[in-house]
Amino acid sequence: MGKFNKTRIVLGVTGSISAYKAVSLLRTLVGEGAEVSVVMTAAAKQFVAPLTFEVLSKRPVYGDLFSEQDPMAHLTLTESADLLLIAPSTANTLSKSALGLADDLLSTVILAARCPIVMAPAMDGDMWNHPSVIEHTGTLRNRGVLVLDPEEGDLASGLVGKGRLPSEEVILEAVEASLARQQDWTGQRVLVSAGPTREPIDAVRFMTNGSSGKMGYAIAQAAAQRGADVVLVSGPTLLAPPANVESISVVTAEEMQQALQDRFSWATVLIMTAAVGDFRPRQVATHKIKKDEWVGEALELERTPDILAELSRQRTHQVLVGFAAETDNHIENGKQKLQKKSLDLIAINHVSGLDSAFGNETNALTVLTQSGDVLHLARMPKLLLAQRLLDIILPLTIMKKAGIQKTPNLRSL
Ligand code: CTP
Repeated sequence: MGKFNKTRIVLGVTGSISAYKAVSLLRTLVGEGAEVSVVMTAAAKQFVAPLTFEVLSKRPVYGDLFSEQDPMAHLTLTESADLLLIAPSTANTLSKSALGLADDLLSTVILAARCPIVMAPAMDGDMWNHPSVIEHTGTLRNRGVLVLDPEEGDLASGLVGKGRLPSEEVILEAVEASLARQQDWTGQRVLVSAGPTREPIDAVRFMTNGSSGKMGYAIAQAAAQRGADVVLVSGPTLLAPPANVESISVVTAEEMQQALQDRFSWATVLIMTAAVGDFRPRQVATHKIKKDEWVGEALELERTPDILAELSRQRTHQVLVGFAAETDNHIENGKQKLQKKSLDLIAINHVSGLDSAFGNETNALTVLTQSGDVLHLARMPKLLLAQRLLDIILPLTIMKKAGIQKTPNLRSL
């Protein structure tokens, strides 16, 4: 029995040179037992003949909004679908979906869909980086569409950049994630902290760090999509709050502590992804310090509260998850933080160099639990990583509720 046995997938194929890769994707899905109906745009048919998809899916290929055989194809297809996968998705299809346009069968199917949607974009790097595509991608992600990031590499234009269709492995992982995790977090109340904190030095200057907040926002988004009630407490970031999440903006470590403290007794799970600044200037000037006024050689600092350690002392029923930001001795330092702050789980981030967790779209994590389990999560988009983490955290919440101490063996997950 295949991984996707009897799963009904609608595969939308659009007019990108990478449309030929959808042929292999279709073979894999069908090989894993999925029942796949293919919808092609007119442009997609310029790249691959519909007959190829028809033979491999053993079903008719859809493409015409006004087909005589099935004038209501957009509804019949989506009513029974478990998942809508658009691979490859051009900038045109992506942007049309964000705007709610429906001028051909595929865009109408996207608008009519009530099932999870996964989009795997493929386009030229400059198109992916265009403000319009960036904005439309953000709109779709906020609505809960899993828009994957294209991969870096050689592009059809001859240039090298970000724009290639994500690998089949990543697309299949996203399909599996979307199918398996529909509403399994219903009933959970999740408090997530994200982003950096900012400590003022004077009226215009401050101390901060390079955290972008992307990991925490991805976790908040994924938990809300999976049915949890989510409160996101965020330091200053450039990100829009995810849909269906209550978002609280803070600036300093003290404000973050207060906001989390206020919601802690409500929460069943606390996930501290925030890169909380550990120090703040002992004195803050209310005006802008003039350079000639600066006589001291050093800025006098004091420690900020350790929010997670303090909440851990007050915990009653909550599952506590920390994120360790490390540049070296990752596992050893992570273990120490897990014990010192009495956490159920810690996810260790690497935060220096080009592959730093800070700011990147993708990340890799090492996860440690109280029972000594170690799990390495390979580099992947942060939303997928968030999904994997939620898969691991959910059993901990169930066991905590049942009063079971032992955490599951993560290697078997
Ligand atoms: N944390 C916190 N309050 C702080 C510092 C960190 O709540 N003042 C939380 C972070 O959100 C994270 C975990 O503690 O979940 C570990 O943070 P990290 O910065 O890796 O470690 P620190 O405890 O700050 O220790 P160190 O600076 O020595 O690495």
